[in-house]
Amino acid sequence: MTQLYSTLANIYHEMYQHIFDYDKEFDFYDAVLKRNNCHKILEIGCGTGMLAKRFIKTGYDYLGLDLFREMLDIARSEVNSDRFIQCDMREISFNKQFDAVLITGRSLAYVTENQGILDTLNGVHKSLKDGGLFIFDVFEATGIFDNFNDFEQAFEFDDRKIKRISKLKMNLSTGWTYNWYAKYIIEQNGKITEYDDITTLRAFTKDEISLFLKLTGFKIREIIEAPKTFTIIAE
Ligand SMILES: C[S@@+](CC[C@H](N)C(=O)[O-])C[C@H]1O[C@@H](n2cnc3c(N)ncnc32)[C@H](O)[C@@H]1O
Repeated sequence: MTQLYSTLANIYHEMYQHIFDYDKEFDFYDAVLKRNNCHKILEIGCGTGMLAKRFIKTGYDYLGLDLFREMLDIARSEVNSDRFIQCDMREISFNKQFDAVLITGRSLAYVTENQGILDTLNGVHKSLKDGGLFIFDVFEATGIFDNFNDFEQAFEFDDRKIKRISKLKMNLSTGWTYNWYAKYIIEQNGKITEYDDITTLRAFTKDEISLFLKLTGFKIREIIEAPKTFTIIAE
């Protein structure tokens, strides 16, 4: 499993505030939730709490869930309260507690096996009140594999520079899976530290996701497409 959410959690927290547009993401979720009168929500893959901050400030009854303690430690200090639990999304068990469950930031990409996807979706289904909403985003297989290019990113902060060199390799062992090899080069106070990270990620076709959802009792309401990703609203 990747180091990005453990050893490198602070680096993730700094970098992704420049990669993701959390205000835009929040506005999207907020509009869907308000339209459907959803107040009590669970965010799976909540990471360092950047959406949590916004949900809590807006008055949602919020619970965040993530696999990594290091991410949750940052989330707790960002939000200044403990609305988080450490858990693997494949093992969630809440009994009809939530108006909506969200899996944000393409976090389902880390569940690469069919059984893990089914366990996660069954757990989400059991956690929702009758008529509750399930909103999540995933990498889209054609978009990913059609433009399968290595890439580099560089970020400069007050006290450190971060460079990430990413190489992608097809893996296909458990679906539309691929390996992401990332080298992190961190320069701070004249000192350079390097980390090599490997992650396996899974992308999905819309047909695959539709079948997983059907098998776990969901009905798709809407699919919202974006380059290389899509977001599903299901009930
Ligand atoms: C790309 S990050 C997204 C984090 C956050 N939603 C954001 O937008 O910044 C993916 C998150 O999924 C979490 N994650 C990975 N595998 C998980 C699992 N099996 N169960 C729960 N969380 C998991 C990681 O710890 C990480 O915080």
